[in-house]
Amino acid sequence: MAEELKIAVFASGKGSNLKAILDAIKERRLINTAVVCVISNKKDAGALEIAKFNSIPAYYISQSNYSNSDDFDAAIIEVLIRHSVNFIVLAGYLKLLSPRIVRKYKDRILNIHPALLPKFGGKGMYGLNVHRAVIECGEKISGATVHLVDEEYDHGPIVLQDSIELDPDETPESLQKKIQEIEHRIYPEAIKLFVEGKFIEKEIINNEY
Ligand code: GRF
Repeated sequence: MAEELKIAVFASGKGSNLKAILDAIKERRLINTAVVCVISNKKDAGALEIAKFNSIPAYYISQSNYSNSDDFDAAIIEVLIRHSVNFIVLAGYLKLLSPRIVRKYKDRILNIHPALLPKFGGKGMYGLNVHRAVIECGEKISGATVHLVDEEYDHGPIVLQDSIELDPDETPESLQKKIQEIEHRIYPEAIKLFVEGKFIEKEIINNEY
């Protein structure tokens, strides 16, 4: 992808992945890339504060303020068009993107998940729930996954993963902390693959998911 990546980050939570991406851009580990807007469905999301602090347009767009999902989608699409967005990064966005948006940005939407997909993904698998399930299942390793987004939760071709071994006395909280450190490293790396045109169609087709 030779064009500049104009990214919209969607986030519902504290926004540490957004911050990691912005840091990578500032430190020029990520070039030819800009976060042009941040969209949240949660009014008090830390990600919106991080956006404002960095003078990035920040939008609170909640389904609850629209009478139907078409109008909600239209509001999001209007922001994406206004900022000429050509790539979407989901960073803890706790809402399924509509098929209309997924189709419009086909193969240009990334998500990060705090486990080694295809294990421990799907509806309800977020936050500490994921790490609790990993520990309860007696897994010896866990990690983080960046994947392309399709119309299902935590589904779609895997772009990048990294893993760690669990300690014998691992808790969901300790695991979450370690995996967030992995996320902050691999999310900018995954975006870089797209900036450099290294994540090509062939790899997508060959990827098992
Ligand atoms: C991350 O753990 C990510 O894997 C998941 O949601 C969390 C978001 O954290 N999808 P933050 O808001 O980026 O700190």
